[in-house]
Amino acid sequence: MMLLQALALAISLMESWVLDDSDPVYQPGSCPFLDDAFNCFNNGRPDLDYLRYRWKPHGCHIPRFDGRQMLRMLRGKRMVFVGDSLNRNMWQSLVCALRESVENKSRIFQIEGRREFRTRGFYSFNFVDYNCSIDFVKSPFLVQEWRSSDRRGNRRERLRLDMIQTPSFNYHDADIIIFNTGHWWTHQKTYKGKNYFQEGRRVYNRLEVNEAYQKALRTWAKWVDSNINRSHTRVFFGGYSASHFRRGKWDSGGHCHEERQPITNDTQLKPYPLMMKILESVISEMKTPVFYLNITRMTGYRKDGHPSVYRKPDVHQRTPGIIQDCSHWCLPGVPDSWNELFYAAYLLSHHDLSS
Ligand SMILES: *[C@@H]1O[C@H](CO)[C@@H](O)[C@H](O)[C@H]1NC(C)=O
Ligand SMILES: *[C@@H]1O[C@H](CO)[C@@H](O)[C@H](O)[C@H]1NC(C)=O
Ligand SMILES: *[C@@H]1O[C@H](CO)[C@@H](O)[C@H](O)[C@H]1NC(C)=O
Ligand SMILES: *[C@@H]1O[C@H](CO)[C@@H](O)[C@H](O)[C@H]1NC(C)=O
Ligand SMILES: *[C@@H]1O[C@H](CO)[C@@H](O)[C@H](O)[C@H]1NC(C)=O
Repeated sequence: MMLLQALALAISLMESWVLDDSDPVYQPGSCPFLDDAFNCFNNGRPDLDYLRYRWKPHGCHIPRFDGRQMLRMLRGKRMVFVGDSLNRNMWQSLVCALRESVENKSRIFQIEGRREFRTRGFYSFNFVDYNCSIDFVKSPFLVQEWRSSDRRGNRRERLRLDMIQTPSFNYHDADIIIFNTGHWWTHQKTYKGKNYFQEGRRVYNRLEVNEAYQKALRTWAKWVDSNINRSHTRVFFGGYSASHFRRGKWDSGGHCHEERQPITNDTQLKPYPLMMKILESVISEMKTPVFYLNITRMTGYRKDGHPSVYRKPDVHQRTPGIIQDCSHWCLPGVPDSWNELFYAAYLLSHHDLSS
């Protein structure tokens, strides 16, 4: 694990987005597997400058993403993303990047949970020629959301900090799992958390959101340590991805549609979130080695990479005043770089395991 730690360190030191005019790993508008919400090119985003940057950690070379090599490493394997829609963003980026290297592209099958498995929020892509599947499981908090009604029939929502979200299907034996959770903890119902967090029978009248986050992560960590075979499964955790709403929040007119370039002045970056320090400390106490994809700062620069008004194909959505998306990312785009980091880390962990 020494190598991995060294890489993590290198990735977090002195780094920047550099101009790079080589082709993106897949062409804008070319991948049929993208959600509309991420498909900025098809939704009419006119500029492509946001595709001209490559992430360059200082004093450390990240190999270019090599889809063929990655597919060879994934042969016969199952990889699962578990988390929120930012992880979904990363999952689709990886599927589209790998698709480029598959000769017969109609031999990639999409299986949708709703139809095939009658479960909510499970999606799978099967790369038949590589006997490999890359799945997404929706679990925005990792712990269990709980909806019920009281005796008067009032709906109640609770978050069970002591229970991992019951998976709609088993993924603990996958070969690679990439978890994340972050953005939902900043939503209003969460941080105003009155009578929202529950642990055992105890419902907290008030609980600081960071404390709740820590409890949830500990629950997750315990579950991973006791359910995941660490000689079989590589575990990754995606860090907090930055948002860039200007002059308002997501629901109060915040916007980013005028952004065409990354931030270049470090003083404009937001401080490293306390939530991620909590994550680092929980991970460091685990028995299972977890590779942390530390993407907070790298995304912090990229105010130009969000779908903004190009989150839907409908032109009416582009009129000013409409809710903009300044949290997710256009694809191709920023999450392709997360997968480049993942690729580098996975190459190393392969090397680590076999040496
Ligand atoms: C992650 O990156 C942030 C900001 O660059 C840094 O402060 C933090 O120490 C990094 N964490 C790790 C585990 O390297
Ligand atoms: C496909 O991979 C699974 C493991 O994920 C393995 O059990 C199975 O034998 C493989 N099938 C073929 C045809 O290689
Ligand atoms: C590609 O795969 C599909 C589905 O398996 C098959 O019908 C088609 O013939 C293949 N095309 C080529 C060129 O091999
Ligand atoms: C854990 O995985 C290793 C390597 O695949 C395997 O040899 C071992 O039997 C597994 N242990 C359990 C308890 O399943
Ligand atoms: C960076 O921003 C800070 C504060 O906004 C400002 O004082 C400083 O002059 C800027 N530096 C450069 C190189 O533009």
